[in-house]
This record gives sequence, C-alpha cells and structure tokens, in this order.
Amino acid sequence: MPRIEKAGKTGFCFGVKRAIDILEKVARERGQVETLGAVAHNQQVLDKLAEMGVSVVKDAAEIKGDTIVTSSHGVSPDLEASLRARNLEVVSTTCHDVRRAQSAAEKLVESGFFVIVFGDANHPEVKGVLGWAKGKGLATTDEKVIAALNPLPRKLGILSQTTEVPAHFAEFVKKIIDLALTKNSEIRIIDTICHDLRERQATALELAHRADLMLVVGGRSSANTNRIAELCANVTETHLIETADDIKPAWLKGKQHIGVTSGASTAEETVEEVMERLEKIA
Ligand code: F3S
Repeated sequence: MPRIEKAGKTGFCFGVKRAIDILEKVARERGQVETLGAVAHNQQVLDKLAEMGVSVVKDAAEIKGDTIVTSSHGVSPDLEASLRARNLEVVSTTCHDVRRAQSAAEKLVESGFFVIVFGDANHPEVKGVLGWAKGKGLATTDEKVIAALNPLPRKLGILSQTTEVPAHFAEFVKKIIDLALTKNSEIRIIDTICHDLRERQATALELAHRADLMLVVGGRSSANTNRIAELCANVTETHLIETADDIKPAWLKGKQHIGVTSGASTAEETVEEVMERLEKIA
C-alpha cells in the first residue's frame, strides 16, 4: 500500500474562515441573507451555506433584500458607495490581506503612481483593488502590456494579486524594472501576496518533490487552488479534485507515495474525506 501524506497546510485559510463565520452569524440572525459574488470559490462550501439560507447574487442589480454581504475578495469603493446609496446594510468580509492590497493601491495613487497589479484582470479581488486605484492602474501578467503603454508612466507601483506565486511575481517585477527603469523614473514594489498562500504553496511543493502523485482538493474556479495545482504539476503527476468522488482509481496504480493538499477555500472536512477514501482504495 502506498504512503498517503497530507501537506503541512490544508483547509480554510484565515480569511475564508473569517468570512464564513461572519456569514453564518448574519444568516442565523436573519434567517436568510444574500452575498454579492461567491464568498468562496468552492461549491461544497456554497452548498452548505445555502442550507443556512445564504444565496449568491452575481450582480448588485439582483439584490432583493436590505442587507448584502460582500466576499473575502473585497469590492471597489465605488461599488460599496453605490450599495450604501441604495440604503442597503453592507456587511464586509474582505480579508485583511486583500484590504492591505487595496490600501497599498490607494496610497500609491495618492502619491502619483500608476498602479500595476500582477494578476487576473477578471478576478473580483483584482477588480476591487483597481477600484481603489481610481482608474489609474491596470492588471496583467504580461510585461508586454506595460511596454505598450504610451507614454509609459514615470512613477510605477507594482502589486500582486494575493493568490499569485511569489517566484512569478519576482520574475515579472524584474522584467518591469528592465523595461521601465530609465532616467527620472521611480518604481515602487509592494509584495501583497497572502501569507497563508505563501506557506501553503511552499508546503505543497515540498511534498510534491517527494510524492509520485499529488491530489489538490479545491474548487475548479478557485484561483489559489489552480495556482497550487500548476506548481505541483511542474514537479509530479497532479490532479485537481473537488471531492473524494473525483478520485480515479487508475491514477493510483503503481504509486508509492501520494500527497494531498488543498486550496484556501476548501474545508478540512473535505480533505479528510479524500484521505479516508485513499486509505480505502489505494
Ligand atoms: Fe485572505 Fe489569503 Fe485567504 S488573501 S482570503 S488569507 S487566501
């Protein structure tokens, strides 16, 4: 039987746990409540919250109640102001690490910098952070987008989406320095990668180097789960699974050491179910 080992850091991160705690409390008090966007990109978590009366609205125009809970990914100040202008009670679950990135973007713009967010321009967290840059910024993972700016702003502030891989952020920053550090220019770099994910990626990678199969448990639409799966896949055979039911016995054939890790929006319970299933079928 192969050795089955869980990575050093799995289950909910601090930010998701806090968001779910707040949401459960509001749902208990009011019977039902709406969240603007998914509070976490994990279907099992959303299904459990739905049983408590939590429903997800995709767009502010769809809000029916008088209270709205915003997700751990945060929102732009304009969106929050527009919700309050409708006399809605806004309950924020913005993670502290996301708030740090928002505040960094705001301060950079106040000091005359153009903000570059290394990340996915379509992700709600990045949209929110750019909202704090008041239109004076953009998000990309491609340095060519910055090279094409005409004129190239003299003062550039570089941040990262909280879920990015530190080594990828560092490579991007080096490229921006090469192309933009010219006479009289100023570049300010703020590392806004989440502490939990940094540790989670490191422990997953350490295990991936020793295992001949890695299972990463998390939502398929979760940015941080996908990043962890990509990192592990560079080292060993890796599969992203949402639940124990996704495990294919064929993957386990001939394997000596199976590693299990999870994204930050995956309940420890789901990880334990995967461990138990592996113990049974491996
Ligand atoms: Fe926050 Fe990091 Fe989790 S940014 S929501 S602690 S993944």
